[in-house]
Amino acid sequence: DKLEDLAPRPPVVTIMGHVDHGKTSLLDAIRETNVTKGEAGGITQHIGAYHVETSRGIITFLDTPGHEAFTAMRARGAQVTDLVILVVAADDGVMEQTKEAVNHAKAANVPIVVAVNKIDKEDANPDRVIRELSEMGLLAEAWGGDTIFANVSAKQRIGLDELLEMVLLQAEVLDLKANPGKRARGHIVEARLDKGRGPVATVLIQEGSLHEGDVFVCGLYQGKVRAMLDDKGQKIKEAGPSYPVEVQGFDGLAESGDEFVVVADEKIARRIASARQTK
Ligand code: GTP
Ligand code: NA
Ligand code: MG
Repeated sequence: DKLEDLAPRPPVVTIMGHVDHGKTSLLDAIRETNVTKGEAGGITQHIGAYHVETSRGIITFLDTPGHEAFTAMRARGAQVTDLVILVVAADDGVMEQTKEAVNHAKAANVPIVVAVNKIDKEDANPDRVIRELSEMGLLAEAWGGDTIFANVSAKQRIGLDELLEMVLLQAEVLDLKANPGKRARGHIVEARLDKGRGPVATVLIQEGSLHEGDVFVCGLYQGKVRAMLDDKGQKIKEAGPSYPVEVQGFDGLAESGDEFVVVADEKIARRIASARQTK
């Protein structure tokens, strides 16, 4: 890419942590407090990837139920996340899946911002979380390290702006850029068979822009973008870097972690897919 073709792109942030520590609640709280009026509250979500316009900038969030999807993607060489928000409940402290999340993020070389959640609880002990994570090499700034900790309550909406500020600050350091002008390339976040629409998949666009009618190859399959929905279920015609979209038009069921690449025409797409299938 020529330098002048690169444009800033939003950070892709994966929310990880032990079961029930409040990952989804945190994301719900963030989305309700920050999505523009009218988009807030009670909207059925079609995909687990969200494009959120916060007061300080746009962030794409991935909410992973467990780490399987993330691990599977990483095992297949798919790097989809720029940052991890590690959610640790202040009453529970560091648990098994907290440690797993830290190890995954470290192995993938992805910076971690710690959200110490549930600080509204009577038995909340955020200092213990700092101490326990220091044993895993995540040193808080107050301890001479460079890991950012933010105390939050998803339930009472405490500390959310500060958390977002930290995340966007970290993202700024990464200087994230992509070329929106070329053919789209990205990865499958999740795929499913829809009764009416056939195989559909949430694609995280990482480079270029995806348009209705684009022809693509993905894993063992190929297709043509028949329709694209954003995370609110709205039809869109185009999606740029860091944008998650649900794509319809696959000729088979892709898998999370599959690479998604737009190609010049259907002949090429069919040739690549059939070569992959006969391997
Ligand atoms: P999994 O996706 O199942 O791993 O859980 P999760 O990490 O997404 O947690 P979830 O958001 O489902 O929250 C688990 C429970 O914790 C729910 O009962 C929430 O209401 C509660 N909870 C979440 N955040 C807070 C908080 O800030 N304070 C309190 N008191 N409870 C919270
Ligand atoms: Na839960
Ligand atoms: Mg959840």
